[in-house]
Amino acid sequence: MKLIKTKAELIDALSSVHENIALVPTMGALHEGHLSLVSAARTDLANRDSKNTSDDDVVVASIFVNPLQFADLGDCDDYRNYPRTLEADAKLLESAGVDIIFAPDVEEMYPQGTPEIWVRTGEMGAQLEGASRPGHFDGVATVVAKLFSLVRPHRAYFGQKDAQQLAVIRRMVNDLDLRVDIRAVPIIRGADGLAESSRNQHLSAADRQNALALPTALTALRERRIDLEQARAELSNSPGVELDYLEVVSPKALKPIAWPPTAPALALGAISVGDTRLIDNMDI
Ligand code: PAF
Repeated sequence: MKLIKTKAELIDALSSVHENIALVPTMGALHEGHLSLVSAARTDLANRDSKNTSDDDVVVASIFVNPLQFADLGDCDDYRNYPRTLEADAKLLESAGVDIIFAPDVEEMYPQGTPEIWVRTGEMGAQLEGASRPGHFDGVATVVAKLFSLVRPHRAYFGQKDAQQLAVIRRMVNDLDLRVDIRAVPIIRGADGLAESSRNQHLSAADRQNALALPTALTALRERRIDLEQARAELSNSPGVELDYLEVVSPKALKPIAWPPTAPALALGAISVGDTRLIDNMDI
C-alpha cells in the first residue's frame, strides 16, 4: 500500500492503471461504515467481468479534512477539533485492501487558498442539513469534483448514511456529465441500532441511549407509518434530544412529499444530543 501526499505523486501512481479505479473519499477518523465502503469496492473489483490482470485494479481511499465544507471555511472549532488519526486510519485501510491512500494537506489541495470557482449545489444543498450548515454541500461537491478530477475513478463509493450528500453527488455527476459510477453502500448500525458515525465517539453511554430516539422515530415511520407530526413530537420530547428536523422526501430530488407517501420515499432526521449532532435516514 502507498501513502501519497501530493497530487503529482498520485497522478504518477495512477498513470498506468486504465481499467478499474475505485475511489473511497473520506475525511479519516475511520469506523466500520468507511470500511464497508472499501469492502464494497473490493467486492466489485473481484466480481468484475474483465480479461485484464489485477494490476489494472486499484482502490484509492482519500483522507482529507476539507475546510470548505465547514463553517467559515474551516475557521471554526468543528474543523479544528475534527479527529485526525492518519496512522491508525492507514493501518485500517491497508488491512481492508486499499492500494493507495491519498492524504494531501490543505496547501496541496488548495495551493491558491480558497478556490474562486466552486460547484454550486443550489436548493438541493440548501435544505435539510444545508439549512443548518450553509455552504456545506457546495464545499463537499467542490472537493469531490477535485478528487474525481485527480483520481479519475471508474466508481466512487459513498455511504447511504449521508443520504443528502449521496443525492447531491449523484446530481452533480448527472448535471456535469462526470463519468463516474456512484455506488451507495448501506448504513452500518451498532447492535443497538445507532448508525455508525465518527461523531459517536463523543457520546457518553447515556447520550448514546438518548440518541437511539432517532432510529426509533425513523423505524416507527417506516414500520408503523405513524403520523409524521407525532413522530416529530415524540422525538423532540425524548430525554436529552434536541430535534433539528425530521422530514420525508423523494429519494432522488429530495423534494418534500405528503405523508403517508404513495411511492418510495426517504425519511431523514437530525438531532443534537449534548454537543453532538447526529443524522440518520431510512427508506420508506
Ligand atoms: O463524507 C465525507 O467524509 C466527506 O463529506 C467527503 C465526501 C469525503 C468530502 O470531503
